[in-house]
Amino acid sequence: MRKKIVAGNWKMYTTVEEGISLVNNLIAGLSKEENLNKTVIVIPPALHLTSIIQTAKNSAGKIHVGAQNCYFEKEGAYTGEISPRMLSHAGVEYVILGHSERRQYFNESNQLLAKKTIAVLEEKMTPIYCCGETLEQRESGKYKDVIKAQIEEGLFDLSAAQISNIIVAYEPVWAIGTGKTASPEQAQEIHAFIRSLFALKYGAAIAEQLPILYGGSVKPGNAAELFSQADIDGGLVGGAALKADDFLGIINA
Ligand code: PGA
Repeated sequence: MRKKIVAGNWKMYTTVEEGISLVNNLIAGLSKEENLNKTVIVIPPALHLTSIIQTAKNSAGKIHVGAQNCYFEKEGAYTGEISPRMLSHAGVEYVILGHSERRQYFNESNQLLAKKTIAVLEEKMTPIYCCGETLEQRESGKYKDVIKAQIEEGLFDLSAAQISNIIVAYEPVWAIGTGKTASPEQAQEIHAFIRSLFALKYGAAIAEQLPILYGGSVKPGNAAELFSQADIDGGLVGGAALKADDFLGIINA
């Protein structure tokens, strides 16, 4: 059985103080949960990481912390960048890679993401590798080809052992921040498709263990139905991760 994962991507929202207060509210909400059988991850802006890691220490291990991006080099003259080594030494456990906003606004290619993925794994952190099609790509009917290329070019140089340490997130770009969620059936179709790609390349056993999260307008009201699909192992949540009550509602879904 794959454990459910709920990850909150704060994007470029909140000040450090607001972030700390959000995590304190999540800790209060989760304190009643005796056996939390899910992995909860908060993913604040890079500036907040050390403070949020400190705050999350009061969660009795219930809240894990991730970063939204990183570079692939260990160190060097790369003004403005943050390395996987810096993140892991700060206590970061997860790193989102290839979010559609990074692909779209910062021109991140599958080839660049392949390098970042390896660099994150080398620092013993877990990449949350994002894929997903635009509305145009969905309407043209070529969306599976787009997702296949994102997965194959970004991840298929990894060994089977490395693949066992990644998380994939399917986020249709047309559903991100738009209020339009993929229907549970639409999402399940792609999640099963993604799992089949891994089964072909790495074998059924590894594909069966791979967590695949759905992202795109996940809300407390639609999370339960999405998460009940056979191949959906939780969510990567944007807007609704910024309010403790909404995020707790999704965690409980
Ligand atoms: P959203 O964002 O939940 O606000 O649609 C999801 C994401 O971009 O990770």
